[in-house]
Amino acid sequence: MMKLLGFGQFKVAFGERETNFACVETLLQDFAKIDLLVLPELCFTGYDFRDQGEVADLAEPMGTGPTSDFLMRLAARFSAVVIAGYPERSGDRFYNSCMMALPTGEIHNYKKTHLFSRENDLFSPGDAAPTVVETPAGRIGMMICFDWIFPEVARSLAIAGAQILAHPSNLVLPYCQRAMYARSVENHLYTITANRIGTEDRAGRSLTFTGASQILGPEGDTLAAAPSDSEVVLTALVDLEQADAKQINSYNHLINSRRNDLFGNPATAGEDKP
Ligand code: ACM
Repeated sequence: MMKLLGFGQFKVAFGERETNFACVETLLQDFAKIDLLVLPELCFTGYDFRDQGEVADLAEPMGTGPTSDFLMRLAARFSAVVIAGYPERSGDRFYNSCMMALPTGEIHNYKKTHLFSRENDLFSPGDAAPTVVETPAGRIGMMICFDWIFPEVARSLAIAGAQILAHPSNLVLPYCQRAMYARSVENHLYTITANRIGTEDRAGRSLTFTGASQILGPEGDTLAAAPSDSEVVLTALVDLEQADAKQINSYNHLINSRRNDLFGNPATAGEDKP
């Protein structure tokens, strides 16, 4: 089944949610249809919060709030699945989360489980592995930025049947994009890393985000690649069935040939397991 997958890469204005919504609208103005759009981590608020008070000012509960409304509006307008990162308020805690809006109005959510650097001072880590969601754009697993360096995140989603890994990111390290080649190949699925660009100079620190968002295929081929410094939406038309072909020759199956007797069995996430 052919699907049009895409990502948005842009400069995020810290604390200016409406400006960032408008930027995404502008980037999408020439698009009529897209099946899946992935936007970066914390992409409407900015990343480098000075303290938890700033997080509190910009955090929203899942499903109600300006970010949910915006994502649901985009999902309805493009008949698309739309995924973006946002600071989530849940009870008296804050999470670095991403939300998936479906054209039906349904919403799914994932709270980042591996917090990077100062994120540990700002957010609680999610305490549930991501699950696979069956959508009109394919079976999608969400992971957020630094989750990439723990291959069991991508692996558990592949075991649970994901065809696409949606990977909203705010990358500052320069080598994740190359490492995602391995996540794609070892799991034989599509990966979409949506990264932001620009620099945040806040609280005496300067963080520059590395852009180079990409869509990789199940054999590691680059299907779309953004530069490190420009605002773009890029897409790739893909055959989802290729991601189901885990039998790489008559002897070796990427999931079933694992030696769980020697190496353990990573928890299979997957309330929506196919
Ligand atoms: C990161 O996890 N934002 C590097």
